[in-house]
Amino acid sequence: MKFSTFCAAAAVAVVSIAATAVVAQQDPIAARKALMKESGQATAAVVKMTKGETPFDLATAQASFKTYQNIASRMPALFPENSKSGGETTAAPAIWEKMDDFKARFTKFDADAKAAEASVKDLDSLKEAVANVSRNCGGCHEAYRVKKS
Ligand code: HEC
Repeated sequence: MKFSTFCAAAAVAVVSIAATAVVAQQDPIAARKALMKESGQATAAVVKMTKGETPFDLATAQASFKTYQNIASRMPALFPENSKSGGETTAAPAIWEKMDDFKARFTKFDADAKAAEASVKDLDSLKEAVANVSRNCGGCHEAYRVKKS
């Protein structure tokens, strides 16, 4: 790549990261919902493989676990005091009462996702990795989401 092309590409990347940060500041509820939707999509991709609906693909599996790590690093900043309600949030008030525990769960989610990414090599190890890392989803939702029935 020519240096000038590289600079242009780098500039575009910086602009899009900055834009995401602005969106996150202006509308943290929408930003965290979007990240969680990505979690759902990343999970669907690996669950389909564990069920034999799609063939095992190492790169796709690792991409899902990388997505989790990215999400885990960005989520904790998206719960400012002024985002307790509105935007059809299902975030429970307990988040703001036990913020340290809530944030610690993202640290664990990140660590489990890293371990999953490192451990997966075939369908059996994928099944185990998905089972391990998915406990983070249900555990946190149970404690920190309002159930909409
Ligand atoms: C440490 C806490 C935590 C972890 C871990 C976590 N979530 Fe969530 N999730 C939340 C919270 C809080 C919300 C509610 C966000 C809101 O409505 O403001 C949510 C919402 C969601 C939603 C609904 C998004 C929407 O459109 O409103 C989906 C889907 C979801 N999570 C999937 C997942 C999956 C899949 C995983 C695991 C791979 C996961 N989450 C892990 C806390 C967590």
